[in-house]
Amino acid sequence: MDLFGNTTPIDTALAGVSLLKGFALKDEAALLADLASVITQAPFRHMITPNGFAMSVAMSNCGALGWVTDRQGYRYANLDPLTQKPWPSIPASFLALSQAAALVAGYADFTPDACLVNRYQTGARMGLHQDKNERDFTQPIVSVSLGVPATFQFGGLKRTDKALNVPLYHGDVVVWGGEARLRYHGILPLKASTHPALGDVRINLTFRKAG
Ligand code: SIN
Ligand code: FE2
Repeated sequence: MDLFGNTTPIDTALAGVSLLKGFALKDEAALLADLASVITQAPFRHMITPNGFAMSVAMSNCGALGWVTDRQGYRYANLDPLTQKPWPSIPASFLALSQAAALVAGYADFTPDACLVNRYQTGARMGLHQDKNERDFTQPIVSVSLGVPATFQFGGLKRTDKALNVPLYHGDVVVWGGEARLRYHGILPLKASTHPALGDVRINLTFRKAG
């Protein structure tokens, strides 16, 4: 019996990955209103990698901790370097969605303290990387896609492992943890497209227990 009709493991080779198609759709209005509020307080910006390049993805954060990069490296910070203020707190709609998705994927006690907000415009991409600045790898990553579709790449535990391409649409949620927690992943350059609610961008919310 399928207790969770909308939980579709995308591939048996990807144990630890749950793809929840359309899981965020019912919360769309609240998510978009809360997103606007977060971005008013902590605007999108193109952060600089340790190598000195501006990222093509514009980023912000909400939560006690925010993921940042600059010439000094990648890390979590409790102040927004742009405003020198704490990041906005994780809105109730964001938190409830991330916890509901985590629960469906088998994580009953997910308590995110960081939500990275990524904005992809046409051509923006994110190269294959591991999420490993967090302290506790027993906690999953919960990733919400909104707006224009994108191709998510799920690689292996080594950068050179062949990656599986997974299309992600408005409202899709991906949860990865367990043996998949440290898989390389990324986003292929965003194709030009328009979404009725968000225009020509893709927004990704990535929830983590970072501290
Ligand atoms: C990330 O890995 O931080 C973002 C992935 C995505 O945009 O879906
Ligand atoms: Fe990531």
